[in-house]
Amino acid sequence: MPRSKIAGIGMYVPKNVVTNNDLKKYMDTSDEWIQERTGIKERRYADRTKETTATMGIEAAKIAIERAGITPQDIDFIVFATICPDYYFPGCGVLVQRAMKMKEVGALDVRDQCSGFIYALSTADQFIRTGMYKNILVVASEKHSFGLDFSTRGRNITVIFGDGAGAVVLQPTDDENRGILSTHLHCDGNNAEILAMYNPGTHANYWTNGNKLADFNEAEIGEMFMSHAMIDHAQNFPNMDGPTVFKIAVEKFPEVIMEALNANNYQTSDLRLLIPHQANLRISQFVQKKLRLTDEQVYNNIQKYGNTTAASIPIALCEAYEMGKIKEGDLVCLAAFGSGFTWASALLKW
Ligand code: ACO
Repeated sequence: MPRSKIAGIGMYVPKNVVTNNDLKKYMDTSDEWIQERTGIKERRYADRTKETTATMGIEAAKIAIERAGITPQDIDFIVFATICPDYYFPGCGVLVQRAMKMKEVGALDVRDQCSGFIYALSTADQFIRTGMYKNILVVASEKHSFGLDFSTRGRNITVIFGDGAGAVVLQPTDDENRGILSTHLHCDGNNAEILAMYNPGTHANYWTNGNKLADFNEAEIGEMFMSHAMIDHAQNFPNMDGPTVFKIAVEKFPEVIMEALNANNYQTSDLRLLIPHQANLRISQFVQKKLRLTDEQVYNNIQKYGNTTAASIPIALCEAYEMGKIKEGDLVCLAAFGSGFTWASALLKW
């Protein structure tokens, strides 16, 4: 059975740089608070009217496809990961197929938040291993800036997120020294509401475990997907219990990285590069310390781009590759943790 290799990689970030001080125009915050808690100095925001999650993904995909030495017409399957889709439905995959004039291939949209890219990569990897497809485009893209609470009420979340996209082309390889060695996917739905955007949704303000989300009267709730009351309660914005996310993230990141290494009989010292999902620089630093990895073994760029959710890993991987930090045959681990909670890792030989 062949393995899959990353044959091409690309990234796209919007031109518009937004510094921590720029955010002070909208909310009560400071550069010191943001840098101290998250490590973020600036992030990119998409052009409000010209760029969408799909268009940014397409820009990254063009580069990945070109670097793979193929054309969009050679792609035989698309997997697209995002939490900021252009439309509630259909997903972004079909918009990529249309815009890039691809054949009438399948398109799958993945909803696994910060772990989305690894879930997407793992899915594509299975299709390559079974021989079903030969050129799979995996895209992860997020336009967070369109859906954040820019008032002081939302400051604990809004300052963290940024926009951007990354993409890879997966192809089969018989080379023993290259390719995706294994992927490891997990979730624990017990904390589904700890980091979530509640609306639009079909829960009518009761979580699936029967607990009430907020005190609305029946008239306010109605039977609507989205109501004025929901907007008044900021349920159309992401909601996060930051300290709980931090606590579980620093437990699950090392666990899933070690799972990948152990499954392939490698040790942390064998790792050329760990690319953690860029959740928060403090989380990455904690993980690095716990695994006793050197600074050279971990790549972080959240300082420049903020947290771009599913897109953060392919953006960081692409940047590390372009900087010459990864060479053919190097052992690279991708690891993510996010809303759901979901967490995942992928171990690959570049
Ligand atoms: N600027 C200034 N003050 C702020 C801001 C802000 N942007 N945000 C919150 N504060 C204030 C709060 O209002 C609070 O003030 P108070 O004490 O007067 O009530 C104080 O700072 C502390 O608030 P906390 O929410 O307790 O802040 P905490 O110290 O926990 O830091 C943070 C928040 C950075 C989110 C932290 O919990 C954290 O790092 N969590 C990890 C979660 C994370 O990184 N998520 C990333 C996205 S999810 C993912 O990718 C997995």
